[in-house]
Amino acid sequence: MSEAPALTAEAGDRLSAGRAEALRGSVRVPGDKSISHRALILAAMAEGESRITGLLEGQDVLDTAAAVGALGAAVERREGAWHVAGAPWRSPDKVIDCGNSGTGVRLLMGAVAGRPVEATFTGDDSLRGRPMGRVIEPLRAMGGRIEAAPGDRLPLTVHGGTLHGIRHLNDKASAQVKSAILLAGLSADGLVEVIEPRASRDHSEIMLKAFGCEIETAPAGEGRVVRLGRRRFLRGTDVDVPGDPSSAAFPLVAALIVPGSEVTVRDMLLNPLRTGLLTTLSEMGAAISIANRREVGGETVGDVTARASGLRGIEVGPARAPSMIDEYPILAVAAACADGVTRLHGLGELRVKESDRLEAILAGLRAGGVEAESHGDTLEIQGSGSGSAPPGGGQVSTHGDHRIAMSFLVLGMAARAPVAVDRPEMIATSFPLFAELMQSLGARIEAA
Ligand code: S3P
Repeated sequence: MSEAPALTAEAGDRLSAGRAEALRGSVRVPGDKSISHRALILAAMAEGESRITGLLEGQDVLDTAAAVGALGAAVERREGAWHVAGAPWRSPDKVIDCGNSGTGVRLLMGAVAGRPVEATFTGDDSLRGRPMGRVIEPLRAMGGRIEAAPGDRLPLTVHGGTLHGIRHLNDKASAQVKSAILLAGLSADGLVEVIEPRASRDHSEIMLKAFGCEIETAPAGEGRVVRLGRRRFLRGTDVDVPGDPSSAAFPLVAALIVPGSEVTVRDMLLNPLRTGLLTTLSEMGAAISIANRREVGGETVGDVTARASGLRGIEVGPARAPSMIDEYPILAVAAACADGVTRLHGLGELRVKESDRLEAILAGLRAGGVEAESHGDTLEIQGSGSGSAPPGGGQVSTHGDHRIAMSFLVLGMAARAPVAVDRPEMIATSFPLFAELMQSLGARIEAA
């Protein structure tokens, strides 16, 4: 780590990133958020103890750890690992606050729906504004009883009980919806099947198998179909959580756009349903290489190196979206530094993330002097040209969205004038010590 002062961001602070000299080094990023939530929830639903290493200790996941504890599991952090012992679930005596986490609340809703308990869920302002109908509707179709605030929002109460099977068309390619159905389906009778016209991330399927559950996946057209088998019983196991590619995206893109840089992210998850950004950046001309590719707990992991590269603008179709849905903000920053125009299509789901990310990206780019427009679900970005750099100099409103904050700090590292962001404390939901890690590579980030 560098000599730079600690940057523990608190509510009301701002952070600013200025143009960096070359970024150099080899780092590990925190554990994958999707896998971390699933590891805690499956371990809590299983018989016996599970030991989880590499868990993301960001606020989103800590909220899920507290939730499964309130639902009856014994959760303990000792000797560098999280130990979770499954137990019969009980109705929590308090409302479960999932904070900022859509994954946490949606997966827990599914898990509770199939157990003989009752739980009320809420979240922060952002989460209370996000649509829960996409999970409520299939759970009700399975026989679940759910009472939600108007517009199918939080707070909502799930009255768990006996469920029956479902065949569900997951037309939004949402892994959260699919996972909620699969978790509810563990205690259901009959066929539990999710049809995906475009495949969403499959960590639930991989981990359910590791916990001893029978689950089949088969190709179906461009997508796949996922079906629970007869054996729907979970037994505790060990989970080693690899580095989060959605977090690795920030140092990797920073290395591509800051001249002279070379950064390696070790032990990064390389599940092909999560590597859309690497594919897209390679199409843009990025020098990215992967070494030490291996299997860990059914997931592919490797060390990824990015070297400063002249990028060119490209057109990215909607089929790519599920495999990089959380990476559009940082991809937009890469596009802002590329030669020519980049057009990103099929971004409708970005409107219902931690913020309306389509609007937040557009406003952030413009604040940083980058020309950008949206037409429907398409975002069009005019790059500065790889021989030049975007103007920067703006104040970006993050709308409390961690990925917007990190993306525009990365823009500041390459821009001609520093870029400041508000509410940087939200970065801790997914990437604690982001600023410190970037400083260790040579970034200039300071309180603004
Ligand atoms: C996630 C799925 C995605 C993603 C989110 C994590 C998951 O959301 O944006 O950050 O862990 O299942 P959707 O399922 O809404 O696409």
